[in-house]
Order: sequence, then C-alpha cells, then structure tokens
Amino acid sequence: MGLKEVFLKHPERRYIMFGGKGGLGKTTFSAATGFWLAKQGKKVLVFSVDPQASLTDIFQKDIFGRGPVKIIDNLWAQEIDADSHIKEYQQEIRQKILDMYGLAEVPEEIEQYIQAASAEPAMEESAIFDAVVDVVTKGEYDYYIYDLVPLGHALYYLSMAKVYDEWINKITHLREEMREYEEMVSRLKREKETEQDQMLKELLYIKERINASASILTDKTKTGFFFVVTPEEMIIRDTQKGAQLFSQFDVPIAGYVVNRVIPRGLLEEKIPPYLRNRIEMQDRHMKDISAAFGDSVLALVPELDRDVTGLAMIEKLSEIMYGK
Ligand SMILES: Nc1ncnc2c1ncn2[C@@H]1O[C@H](COP(=O)(O)OP(=O)(O)OP(=O)(O)O)[C@@H](O)[C@H]1O
Ligand SMILES: [Mg+2]
Repeated sequence: MGLKEVFLKHPERRYIMFGGKGGLGKTTFSAATGFWLAKQGKKVLVFSVDPQASLTDIFQKDIFGRGPVKIIDNLWAQEIDADSHIKEYQQEIRQKILDMYGLAEVPEEIEQYIQAASAEPAMEESAIFDAVVDVVTKGEYDYYIYDLVPLGHALYYLSMAKVYDEWINKITHLREEMREYEEMVSRLKREKETEQDQMLKELLYIKERINASASILTDKTKTGFFFVVTPEEMIIRDTQKGAQLFSQFDVPIAGYVVNRVIPRGLLEEKIPPYLRNRIEMQDRHMKDISAAFGDSVLALVPELDRDVTGLAMIEKLSEIMYGK
C-alpha cells in the first residue's frame, strides 16, 4: 500500500504527524501533504510550535505568531508563538490571584514565584500543549497536520499529560502558599470560609480537558503518525528505537516514508564514481529499511535538485508523494 492509499483508506485519521530525527524532512512532508489534501478539497491546517518558524520558510510567507494564515484555497498554516502563550498564562494566574483574594496588586513574593515557575520547562511545555489543544479542539478543519519538532521532543510531547500534572502540582503548591493571604483577606471580609477549592477545581478541569485532548492526539483511530527515515545506518537505528518508544506510549505508527533516495535512473547515465558509490551504499541501507519496516514503508521520495521551498516545489513534491 502507498501513502495515498493509506489516506484514502483511513479518512477518519484527521490528525496527521510526520515524526523523525532532525532535518529529515518532517516539515517538507507536512507541507506537501497539506498541499495535496487541500487540492483534494479538504480543509487543512498545517501547524507547528517550532520557534524556528520553518513553515514561514517553506511557504515563504510571514506566518509566525499570526494565527492561521491562508496559503492556497483550503490550506492554512499556523505557527504558534509559545512565548506569548506563557505570558498569557502568567497574566491569567495573576488575575486569578487578584480576583480571588481581592488584592489590588500581586504580592512581590508571589510575583517572583510566577516568574520562576514560568522559567520551568514544564511550564513552557504546558503552554505549548495548551495552545495545540486550543487549535485542535476547535474542530474547524478536516485535517490537522502537526509539524513536529525532532523526535526526542515529540516523545516528550506524548507524555505531556504527565507534564501537565507537574504544572498543576506546582500551582496547587502556590495556592497553598497563598493560604496566609487568604486568611488575612477572609479576616478582613469577616468570612468564615473562603472559596479555597475553586482554583484547584478549575485547574483540575483544565487537566481533564488536556487529558481528553491528549487522547484525541494519541487516538489510534483518529491519528496518523508517519515516521520519516533516510537510507543511512544511524538514522535507521534511531528510527527503530523511536518506533519502540512509540509502542510503549501505545501510539500506532501509520507507516514510514523514506526520504532523499538518490534516483536509481542515474545509474544508466555516465556518472562519477562518487555518486555511484553513494547509490550502492543507499541500496544496502534500503535493504535494511525493508528488513526493519517491511510493508510499512509507504513511499520513497527522491533527493531533489534543490531545497523544497515555495509553492512550486511543494506542489512538485506532493505529486511525487501522492500523484497528480
Ligand atoms: N527530498 C528532498 N530533496 C531535497 N531537499 C530536501 C528533501 N527533503 C527535504 N529537503 C530539504 O532538507 C531540509 C530539511 O528538511 P525539513 O525542514 O523538512 O526537515 P525537518 O525534519 O522538518 O527538520 P527539523 O527537525 O529541523 O524540523 C530543508 O531545507 C528541505 O528543503
Ligand atoms: Mg521541521
């Protein structure tokens, strides 16, 4: 079965991801796949949380932090600015504290705590994850193509529900620290009890929402996760390791796409020994790929004569991957 057949056979898979090590072609394939699906009449969003703004590069359009930007009919691209989400988070927390305890400004110690918590990787990940959840739960598109950062990170993302737990624990801790303020305020207000569980309740609600969304993204029926691999020894090995980890997280792999295969037709031409050797080497690695991934290899994508940037190259690649 080829890549196109997999898409046609599984229209229920609306969350598409290309995973793999750095620089193998994840963004390139995300763009080409989005382009093809859009041409099929599907409404598609290609999005990323990559601060490198690689969608901006490939689509040659200013996309970063601007919400969904239209590329062609049916195709939108979005690059989420995680930093600004963290700032929104901080502001939300401040506001909650102000509202809840009826303070005019956030006490210095608490402000320091908020700053420190925001520097935590867990906070950044939560902000990113929350943004992703916001994007996909709106359900405005037929397909969501999540242009992932390199593999290690993608795996981290899969354990995001855990990360979120951590963040919530921190905030609950913060809430405990707030208790003294709470008591002070309630004394002032002459109230016997404060709404001390309200914040916690709200956080638990957010957590539930996150868990629900995490399960959408790792849902076997709705998610198509493709690995990008190249005919190189190290890459093949790392991809196998990655695939193992994925099965531990119970994430199904829809298939493998081999990138940067030097066109075999060149062997018929007069080519330098250097290139001939490269092709022979790739041939050996292609055998390893077949042995490792078998029928799950869905497409071989040739090494092109230039980088894939701009719509003309994206279209060319989408025709190679999916046909006209
Ligand atoms: N088949 C190909 N032929 C020629 N150039 C390619 C091909 N596939 C990808 N490239 C180029 O290789 C570079 C890396 O590709 P891409 O950005 O898609 O990788 P990535 O996996 O998204 O990287 P990162 O892990 O950094 O996000 C880009 O310049 C892209 O244009
Ligand atoms: Mg990329």
